[in-house]
Amino acid sequence: MRIPIVAGNWKMNKTIAEARDLVNALRDDLTRLAADGRVQIVLCPPFIALPEVAAQVQGTPIKVGAQNLFWEAKGAFTGEIAPTMLTGWCDYVIIGHSERRQYFGETDEGVNKKTKAALAHRLTPIVCVGENLAQNEAGETAAVVRAQVRAACAGLAREDARRIVIAYEPVWAIGTGRAASGAGANAVIGETIRGTLAALYDAETAQAIRVQYGGSVTPKNVAEFFAQPEIDGALVGGASLVAADFAAICRAAVR
Ligand code: PGA
Repeated sequence: MRIPIVAGNWKMNKTIAEARDLVNALRDDLTRLAADGRVQIVLCPPFIALPEVAAQVQGTPIKVGAQNLFWEAKGAFTGEIAPTMLTGWCDYVIIGHSERRQYFGETDEGVNKKTKAALAHRLTPIVCVGENLAQNEAGETAAVVRAQVRAACAGLAREDARRIVIAYEPVWAIGTGRAASGAGANAVIGETIRGTLAALYDAETAQAIRVQYGGSVTPKNVAEFFAQPEIDGALVGGASLVAADFAAICRAAVR
């Protein structure tokens, strides 16, 4: 059985002090929810708040993730963060979020390099894929998502692929309040994402890899996603900034 994973992507929100307040408001609830291992909960603050958040959740089952990394180990890469700078502070790292692809020129090739770098440093990559509105309306969803999954996994051995998490995040659903339908997301994840993974590796591997849905997940609509057989949790943006909302979403994962 795949254990669902609920990750809160805080994006460029929360100062260190605000991060501390949010974790204080969440920690007890999330600790209780994650205690028996039925859900994995990951908080993904901005880089600068990672040490603070990691210290706050130390000794709890709550995990910490970064929102990006660079693939090189060190050197003249101004403004970048190396995998070795993250290990110790976090266990997960979001890679290829659509905002990074859209605003920071991230390519499929870069996503692949970052995925490999994360795995090499024992970080679990949460690799984001998803079509934009024009692609969706043109009926290109399957082709776009298949290409992104193939590119992210290029050169990854089966045992490494099993360690990644994929987040299906249709770009038109992110931050818009217009979530995909549970059935629609389930179909893309089951047919396109697991179908591609099965073709690249094998059916058993495709079934073992966890695939989340992301895009305007709220306490109101989350049950619809968690009821789907192919969806193993959620990548939550806006609602992860509000303690009561994120706790409610995590609670829905263990129902
Ligand atoms: P959202 O963001 O929940 O605010 O739509 C999700 C994401 O971008 O990961």
